Amino acid sequence: MPNSVLSLLALLFFAFPQQQSTPPAATPAINVIPLEAARMVNPVTPTHESQTRAKSRYDIDCAMCHGANGNGKGDPGIISDMGLTMMDFTNPDTLKNRTDGEIFYIIKNGQGKMPGEDRAKTDEIWNLVVYLRSFSKK
Ligand code: HEC
Repeated sequence: MPNSVLSLLALLFFAFPQQQSTPPAATPAINVIPLEAARMVNPVTPTHESQTRAKSRYDIDCAMCHGANGNGKGDPGIISDMGLTMMDFTNPDTLKNRTDGEIFYIIKNGQGKMPGEDRAKTDEIWNLVVYLRSFSKK
């Protein structure tokens, strides 16, 4: 190979070093909710007891970010450290366009900076969906 070709190749190599790097790992499709998940209908009939349990779980696992009454005013330290933008579940508009299935999916799998509740039992998550919706009914 003539030297000029070699140096041209070297030039290209150094001019476009980003082409040498491996492609970034696929970003997790956290914001894409499968249609069949979104269409799921809440199979549980909440009882006073199941909602009391949902409240306990919410108070432990969710209130630090979403606020004890769902208004999005959780622990200011956590919210600023993690750079979170919280929504207000006491406003009926917030979850208006979400199906129960979508809310279930988000709670179970997490979304963005929110961790998923993957260790919770299915019926506990459905009760959390009902509990969340109750914030805008008070
Ligand atoms: C570390 C803070 C944090 C915790 C803990 C947390 N969340 Fe979230 N949650 C968020 C943030 C931030 C968003 C917005 C995510 C986004 O869309 O980027 C969110 C979004 C949601 C949404 C989606 C609302 C919508 O319409 O997009 C639901 C539902 C929700 N959270 C419920 C819960 C429940 C229930 C729990 C407890 C089991 C919980 N979250 C725990 C931070 C948190």
